[in-house]
Amino acid sequence: MNAALSFEATNEILGSVKIPATPAVFMELHELMQKDEPDIDEVSAAISKDMGLAALVLKTVNSPFFGLRAKAKSIRQATTLLGLLNISNIVAGLALRRAMEDSGAPTPEHYWESPVNIGMVSAKLSRQFAGVSPDEAYMLGLFHNAGVPLMMMRFDDYLKTMGDAEASMVDVTQLEDERYKTNHAVIGYFVCRSWGLPEHVGELILRHHDVVEVLAENGGAMSKTGISLAVLKMAEHIDRRYWGKADDPEWDRWGEQVLAYAGISSTDFEDIVEDMTELLAAG
Ligand SMILES: [Fe+2]
Repeated sequence: MNAALSFEATNEILGSVKIPATPAVFMELHELMQKDEPDIDEVSAAISKDMGLAALVLKTVNSPFFGLRAKAKSIRQATTLLGLLNISNIVAGLALRRAMEDSGAPTPEHYWESPVNIGMVSAKLSRQFAGVSPDEAYMLGLFHNAGVPLMMMRFDDYLKTMGDAEASMVDVTQLEDERYKTNHAVIGYFVCRSWGLPEHVGELILRHHDVVEVLAENGGAMSKTGISLAVLKMAEHIDRRYWGKADDPEWDRWGEQVLAYAGISSTDFEDIVEDMTELLAAG
């Protein structure tokens, strides 16, 4: 199915799928960050008003994946250590995850653990590459499959479709297009747009299963888009290894290409997998 058709069908489907409302704290932060010189005290105060969220933000930034030298004890301190833009992107990710959980979208047990792991691992991996910021890598990791719960809410047999795709060599988005005339990557893109997330995060979500096409752009030369996607794919693989799951067909097919693109040998990658799974187990 071509992208245009998929978009058209998606618009129709979105009429019957409810995208969770943008959380108030996200809107407030968005406004504060639009100023020429955002005020660190105002931003910290906006986050701290929501105590549950503030606690989650501190837990996230103090995890070993963000590599802070000192532990942040307050939101103000976390903001100083990580910077305004980083902290607001992290808050956005966490607030949106909570909005999704509260929306009543059916989420299987442990559903959010993988996106959180993938976000954390992506943040850490991104430090090895110029041009990819850890907070954006985190946001992409956390949100790349934001369309999945909405697809599950709309289509009763969605889980079966995911299983069918995994058992075959068919791309999951291709199978979704065949069965539903839309797919979770397109829905995820619409969620990003509706929430006003950075446009390139939305674009990457839209293309997160088009691995070969994205990596082949610019004649295969490294780009911010390509390396962001490579980081996401490595992080997804690491999360599967952490749970002791079999490799997914996508990694079987393109894993080597992803590593070659990122300039990481398979031996070095095994060391990375070991380090990261240890960090996840410790977290
Ligand atoms: Fe996906």
